[in-house]
Formats: sequence, structure tokens, C-alpha cells
Amino acid sequence: MIKSETHPTRGRELRNRYTAADLRVFSREEASRFIPGGSGDPQSDVALAWELLYRLEPELYDQLARAERLHPRILSWLPRMAGTIVEVGAGTGRLTLELIGRGRDIVAIEPAMPLRQILRRKLAEAQDAGHARVIHGFFDDLPLPSDFADLVVACSAFTPSPAHGGEVGLSEMERVCKPGGCVALVWPNNVEWLATRGYEYVSFAGPMSVEFESLEEAVELAEIFYPSAADEVRRRRRRRVPFDIVGINPPRDVAFRRPV
Ligand SMILES: C[S@@+](CC[C@H](N)C(=O)[O-])C[C@H]1O[C@@H](n2cnc3c(N)ncnc32)[C@H](O)[C@@H]1O
Repeated sequence: MIKSETHPTRGRELRNRYTAADLRVFSREEASRFIPGGSGDPQSDVALAWELLYRLEPELYDQLARAERLHPRILSWLPRMAGTIVEVGAGTGRLTLELIGRGRDIVAIEPAMPLRQILRRKLAEAQDAGHARVIHGFFDDLPLPSDFADLVVACSAFTPSPAHGGEVGLSEMERVCKPGGCVALVWPNNVEWLATRGYEYVSFAGPMSVEFESLEEAVELAEIFYPSAADEVRRRRRRRVPFDIVGINPPRDVAFRRPV
């Protein structure tokens, strides 16, 4: 069940969910990246609506991320044993929790405080997560030394836009990665842009569905996140919804580079 006391917008689609008044939630550092001109409209700029979602309704975001599961081959493709792992834009831990046990140390970097709180809670409840820590930071200014990690990864977080990584963010990830390590962008949003910067690409085949916990959750989240598919989700009456029905590319791919 979605809890939204400050935002009584149950069922309202993401694009119409927030207003410019909600931008007050951004810290100064966040505003300088997400609304560099000082203002914006989350009803015409969906990237802003997502940033507001993370801060105003983080549990709702977590519900979606839990349903949009990664292709299992991504997890087997990633290095099984890396000394130190850094994940940037870790959110509520869709990938982070899968990384436990794969590295001596895990550093999860996440700028949105409400998402950090959820991720810390999940790690505290997880077994063997003692070597994982969650810190504040942004792609363009990673708070870590050079050559720090064997694997530097981001999942559905990096884009070519400066607010969400861009050229500076990519070179920051590469700076933090040891020579011979791996920078991996899971579920990348702009494969061509990454290819021109020397990134290879792998995609795993097979049918994929969004795995909601119940039919009710499928209908409720479809109305918010995939409004053009909501009628079909109601008609099918299934809690599993194939990605081709929701109309987004499934989380089945990775762009990667091994700095030398
Ligand atoms: C779609 S969510 C993905 C979260 C998580 N990796 C997952 O797979 O569920 C995008 C994430 O990127 C984070 N993010 C946005 N801008 C960022 C920036 N400039 N630097 C680092 N993280 C950022 C958001 O706070 C959010 O956690």
C-alpha cells in the first residue's frame, strides 16, 4: 500500500504528480544540479519528477524498483569476487543487495537522503552486509580517492546529462576505478553515447516481466508509472506484466569498460 500523507495523489501518474512548489525539497547541492537555473517544472521535465519521487515518496520508488528486477544473467556476469566495489546512485539497493559477498568492501553512494535511509535499513537487516557502507555523493564529485575500487558500477542511474553523470561523472567513475578493474553501467540509458567513449555492451536474452507482488499493486503502480499500459494491466488481471506491455526496455543489459 502506498503511503503518501503529504502527497494525497494516489494513482496520479508521475508526470502530473508534483508541482514546482515541491522543488523546495532539494538541498542546495541538489538544486545546483537538478535545477541549475533556479526553477523547473516537474510536469514537463520527467527527470525532475523522478528526483522528487525519490525525496517525497521513497517507499513508492522502492516498490517499483523491487518489481522491476534485473535479469539474473547480469548478476552472474558481474565479477564474482572484487576487492572493493563502489556503486553510484545506489537508490534503495536493487543492485547493492546483490553485491553483498562479492567484495571485501562495498561503498554505496546515494545523494537522496530518504533512499539512503531505506538502503541502510535493508543492509542492517541483510546477512553479511557488515562490509557495506552507504554515503552521500554525486557522480560529478565522487567522495573517494583515485584507483580505489576494483568494480565501479551504477544501475539505472547514470545518463549523459550533467545532472545525472555526463562527461564529468563518467570520468569520475573511471578515476575511482583501479587500472584493470571494471566500470559497469547496468541498464544503461544511452548505449551509443557510451560506445563512442569506448564502452562495450552486453545484453541477455529471454522474456522479462515486471514482477509485482499482487494484481492490486500492478494496477496501482501501472497507473502511476506506465499510464498508457494501465488499461491492459487491468484487463489481463495478472501480477506479472511483460516489459513489452509496459513499453520500456527491460533491465537486461550492461555497458562496461576496463580502464588500463
Ligand atoms: C532510477 S534510480 C536507480 C536506483 C538504483 N540504482 C536502482 O537500480 O534501483 C536513479 C538513482 O540515481 C540517483 N542519482 C540521481 N542523480 C544523481 C547524481 N547526480 N549522482 C549520483 N546519483 C544520482 C538517484 O538519487 C537514484 O537513486
